[in-house]
Amino acid sequence: MISLLIDPEIDFTRLPRHVAIIMDGNGRWAKKRLLNRVQGHGKGADTVRTIVRTCHEIKLPILTLYAFSTENWCRPKKEVDALMMLFSTFLKSEQGKLKNNNIRLNALGQIDRLPQKVQKALHDTMDATKENNGMLLNIAVSYGGRSEIVRAVKNIALKVKKGLIDPESSPESITEQLITEHLYTSGMDDPDLLIRTSGEKRISNFLLWQIAYSEIFVTDTLWPDFNKDELLSILKNYQNRERRFGKL
Ligand code: IPE
Ligand code: IPE
Ligand code: MG
Repeated sequence: MISLLIDPEIDFTRLPRHVAIIMDGNGRWAKKRLLNRVQGHGKGADTVRTIVRTCHEIKLPILTLYAFSTENWCRPKKEVDALMMLFSTFLKSEQGKLKNNNIRLNALGQIDRLPQKVQKALHDTMDATKENNGMLLNIAVSYGGRSEIVRAVKNIALKVKKGLIDPESSPESITEQLITEHLYTSGMDDPDLLIRTSGEKRISNFLLWQIAYSEIFVTDTLWPDFNKDELLSILKNYQNRERRFGKL
């Protein structure tokens, strides 16, 4: 912690407020070592612990981790089952640490599609950490950006029907702000920085609305090999970028 604070190259007063990470490459990491994919996911979970700890140490306000997409449900049942098992064990083992480190856990996605055991572990951990006001840790699980937008639009339509948005139901009341407020990330700043590991230069249905002006960083490092030093060097790179938001 001390060494981080005195690192002259990072300005800890100008950190991004929200970092989102597409944690990709567990399968390739395993393949390279002639291990099975599930062993890669297990090692990936260790990286999650390291990165959450680092983000907590540097006092990052929001960290969002993409753990499982709506499309990932189409993977072989054996892999999906193993991932679900891993999520619940991970949450149970981390709950105490999250609570004690003032980290609040939040889930983004179609939680009701998850097995009961995982839903319970998620709800237990969210409940145990709900009073925490340090870092907000979002886990995107069974998450898809398009389905998130569809859900928001449906909820808005329902409210319009009930006259809750605008008694006149004027289309003018549908604003960017209104849609933003109906996403899973309601009330949160958009990600300033989006990191994807394992070299793939695509978004894979992650936070489609929220990343409109995020800075993107793709590293070839596979998620199980990603570490604190690389995260810090990406933060340095971020601080040297000029964000223009379309202006001059
Ligand atoms: C990311 O690693 C984890 C999940 C999507 C659940 P992958 O499992 O996608 O690993 P690769 O891309 O096959 O290497
Ligand atoms: C994106 O990785 C989803 C997560 C990291 C959870 P994928 O491995 O599913 O993405 P594609 O299939 O390479 O686009
Ligand atoms: Mg992948």
